[in-house]
Amino acid sequence: AEARIGLVGLGVMGANLALNIADNGFPVVVHNRTTSVIDDFIANAGDLADRLVPAQDYAQMAAALTPPRAIIIMVKAGGPVDAVIDELKPHLDKGDIIIDAGNADFNDTRRREADLKDEGYRFVGMGVSGGEEGARHGPSIMVGGAPEAYAELSEIVEAIAAKYQDVPCAAHMGPDGAGHFVKTVHNGIEYADMQMIAEIYGILRDGDGRSPEAIGEIFHEWNQGPLQSYLVEITAEVLRATDPETGSPMVDIIQDMAGQKGTGRWTVIEALKLGQSPSTIEAAVAARSWSAGKPLRETAEGLLKELPGAETALPLLEGDLERALLAARIIGYSQGFSLLRAASDEFDWNLDLSSAAEIWRAGCIIRSSLLDDIATAFREDLPGDTLVLAPSFVRMLNDAIPALRRVVSQSAINGLAVPALSSALAYYDTLRKGRGTAALIQGQRDFFGAHGFERTDKDGTDYHGPWGQ
Ligand code: 6PG
Repeated sequence: AEARIGLVGLGVMGANLALNIADNGFPVVVHNRTTSVIDDFIANAGDLADRLVPAQDYAQMAAALTPPRAIIIMVKAGGPVDAVIDELKPHLDKGDIIIDAGNADFNDTRRREADLKDEGYRFVGMGVSGGEEGARHGPSIMVGGAPEAYAELSEIVEAIAAKYQDVPCAAHMGPDGAGHFVKTVHNGIEYADMQMIAEIYGILRDGDGRSPEAIGEIFHEWNQGPLQSYLVEITAEVLRATDPETGSPMVDIIQDMAGQKGTGRWTVIEALKLGQSPSTIEAAVAARSWSAGKPLRETAEGLLKELPGAETALPLLEGDLERALLAARIIGYSQGFSLLRAASDEFDWNLDLSSAAEIWRAGCIIRSSLLDDIATAFREDLPGDTLVLAPSFVRMLNDAIPALRRVVSQSAINGLAVPALSSALAYYDTLRKGRGTAALIQGQRDFFGAHGFERTDKDGTDYHGPWGQ
């Protein structure tokens, strides 16, 4: 068969994506900068080797593909992507499609798309979620770029994507950087959810002295209920695992310094530029950064000894923890979707938020049973375009917020850090007050800088207070 699709970059994600494509019956031409990797990859591909065509360089890759070519790049974000594009281009024809399937900064995607369009090529920024397993057997795929380019790719993309009740978890999100932006926000929500789960773990571990294994059991049980999700499922597995070398719980042997490749940070940076503040994601990025400052925390542990008195300790209710996590998770998703809406308005993407929720129902890291309800909520009339205001979510929050309040209060009193859970609650409590405390901020601004304010009783924007009279 003729090969139409090529793939550059046989790292873990690229290799598994290539196998997935081949497994779905499409021949793939593969290249890797360190060329020895190419032959090893094909030699280990078993039955699929027949559909994998090695290319030692870009000239060979271009020659092996039938135009219009579609070439997936799966290399490290940033400079390496530009380098591959520059080297690849001289071998391509106008109309060929270059696809960046890595986790790109959507600003780079917009720039690359515009530049390549000027030169007559098509560029697709494709967010792929699901880790190694997803790449091999079905990821969730968020595509950005020209709709005609997606129309040409959709057969392959939808074949390799995860399926939710037979519906492929892949869709065209919008032009230029829309796909990579949706993927970035997916990761922001992922950061928030992981952090909230870690905070609940911390309460059970440090606050209540339970063993990792016992806590793993609790998460395992929760995964049968409304918290059902990939992240809760793997949390149970991680907590129940034992280190084969020492026999200790694996989680006790892992250094508590969180890594981050940048997508959470990008989410927050872009949100701030759009005048948004997804507080749960901000808190999660902050918590990862704080965790990385371990030497300082070790010094501080010896100095900041004020501890809550035993008389202030409050009993923990397991039902509270489950519902608190549910409430905070809903708020995290809601903030992520509000950010998508803001970006869509700013960049004229016309994003379909129910479609984004639908393609996150399977394959991706934040898949959870809530996403079906979220997709439904966005298909219906949604007050304020804000997920937490959907009638179904109002009901869930009415039930779960009191638990979140108790958990956040107990944690504060007991000296347990819960930055994501508490920022979820702070957002919720701010949201539910039609009139808050910003009048005072405006008064202060006007006092020291004559910045002016609006009045509640008259039109106009430049009123001043009686300060200093
Ligand atoms: C996914 C993951 C994936 C990857 C992130 C992790 O959706 O499959 O989000 O993209 O695991 O790069 O990001 P950090 O290294 O920043 O945690």
